[in-house]
Amino acid sequence: MRLLVTGGCGFIGSAVVRRVLRTTDWSVVVLDKLTYAAEPRALEETAADPRYRLVVGDVTDAELLARLFAEYRPDAVLHLAAESHVDRSIDGPEAFLSTNVVGTFRLLEAALAHWRMLSEPERSRFRFHHVSTDEVFGALAPEDAPFRETSPYDPRSPYAASKAAADHLVRAWWHTYGLPVLISNASNNYGPWQFPEKLIPLALTKALAGEPIPVYGRGEQVRDWLHVDDHAAALLAILGRGRVGRTYLVGARAERTNLDLVRTLCAILDELVPNSPHRPHARLIRFVADRPGHDRRYAIDPARLEVELGWRPARSLEEGLRATVAWYLAHRDWLAEMRARYDGRRLGLGGAPTAGAEAAAAGTGRTEPEGTER
Ligand code: NAD
Ligand code: DAU
Repeated sequence: MRLLVTGGCGFIGSAVVRRVLRTTDWSVVVLDKLTYAAEPRALEETAADPRYRLVVGDVTDAELLARLFAEYRPDAVLHLAAESHVDRSIDGPEAFLSTNVVGTFRLLEAALAHWRMLSEPERSRFRFHHVSTDEVFGALAPEDAPFRETSPYDPRSPYAASKAAADHLVRAWWHTYGLPVLISNASNNYGPWQFPEKLIPLALTKALAGEPIPVYGRGEQVRDWLHVDDHAAALLAILGRGRVGRTYLVGARAERTNLDLVRTLCAILDELVPNSPHRPHARLIRFVADRPGHDRRYAIDPARLEVELGWRPARSLEEGLRATVAWYLAHRDWLAEMRARYDGRRLGLGGAPTAGAEAAAAGTGRTEPEGTER
C-alpha cells in the first residue's frame, strides 16, 4: 500500500507516520509545507527507511499535487495538513482559510482526478481520509451529552469554522462524485513533539522556567484528552476498516477542566523534579484574560469507533500524562530551542471586543482579570 500523508511533519502526522512504518509494510510519502509547527526531527527514526519520502510543498499548490499523484499513485490519502492553533486563528484567520479550506479543496480535486484514472478494483480500494476535530460541533454545556457522529455542526472559532468547511467539502466530494472518503473528528491530543503553543507543552515550558503558567478565564473549560499514539492507532483502524462515507469520533473518555489538568501537570513535575527551585509548581498558575469565544466544553462519545472497529485507548490519561511529562523532561533542550520559534507570549486576544460583545449578549462569558490561583 502507498500512503500519502499531508502534514506528516506535524505533531499528529509524525505519530501516524512512525506507527505506519513500525507496524505495516506500507510506503509513505509525506507532503508538508514545514511551517513553524512542523518538526521533521520527529521523523528521524524513519529517515533511513527506503519506504519513506518527504516532499516539501503546499497543499494549496494544484500543480504540485497533480505531479505528486501522477508520480506516486497513492492507494490512500491521510489528510492532516492544517493550521491547527485556535489562538492563532483569532489573530490571523486567513492562513486557516487558505490551508484548511482551499488546501482541502485542491487535495480533493487532485485525489478525484487520480481516482478516476484507476482501475475498478483500485478505485474501490482507494480512500481519502480527512482528519478533523471535535471543535466543528461547537461547545457543550456541563450537563450535555458528549458529541456523537450525528451532532449538528456549530463551529465558533475561525479555526473550527475552517475545519467544518473542510468536512463539508469532503462529504460533498463523496455524495456528488463518489470519491471514497472517511472523516474522523478527534478531541484534544497530547504527547511527545507537540509544538509548545498548545496548553500542555506550553504549561510545562513555563513551569520548568519558573514562569507564570497562564490559565484562561478561571480554568473551568473542559477538554477531553487523547494520547497522540492512541489517535494514530484509531486513524489506521478507520483508514483500514472504516465504512466509506462515514464519520468516526475519536476520544478517550478523559474529560478534565483546564485547571485540574494544569494542577495535575504541576504535581507530576513536583514528583519528577524533586530538586526544582520552583516547587510546588502549582504556585506558578495564573488566571489570565479569557480566550475570545472560548468554548466551554468538548467531549466525545467514541462508541461507534469502539463497537464497529474495536478501538480502545492503550493508556489512561494519568499514565499518558506521566509519560508525556517525562518525555518533555528528557527533551528540555528541544523545548528551549522551540522558544526561538515562539517565545511563549500570549496569543489570540485579537478578537476580544467582538467576542466580549457576543458573550455579554449570551449572558454566559466573562473576562477575568489577571490573578493568581488561590
Ligand atoms: P500541527 O500544527 O502540529 O501540524 C500541522 C502540519 O501541517 C505541520 O507539519 C505543517 O507544516 C503542515 N502544514 C500546514 N500548512 C500546510 C500547507 N499549506 N501545506 C502542507 N502542509 C502544511 O497540527 P496537529 O496538531 O498535528 O494536527 C493535525 C491535524 O489534526 C489537523 O488537521 C488538526 O486540525 C487535526 N486535529 C488536531 C487535534 C489536536 O489536538 N492537535 C485534535 C483533533 C484534530
Ligand atoms: O479539540 C481538538 C482541538 O484541540 C484541535 O482541533 C486543535 O487543533 C488543538 O489545538 C486543540 O484546541 P484547543 O484550543 O482546545 O487547544 P489548546 O491547547 O490551545 O487549549 C486547550 C485549553 O486550554 C483551551 O480551553 C484553552 C486553554 N488554554 C490554552 C493555552 C494555550 C489555557 O488556559 N492557557 C493557555 O496558555
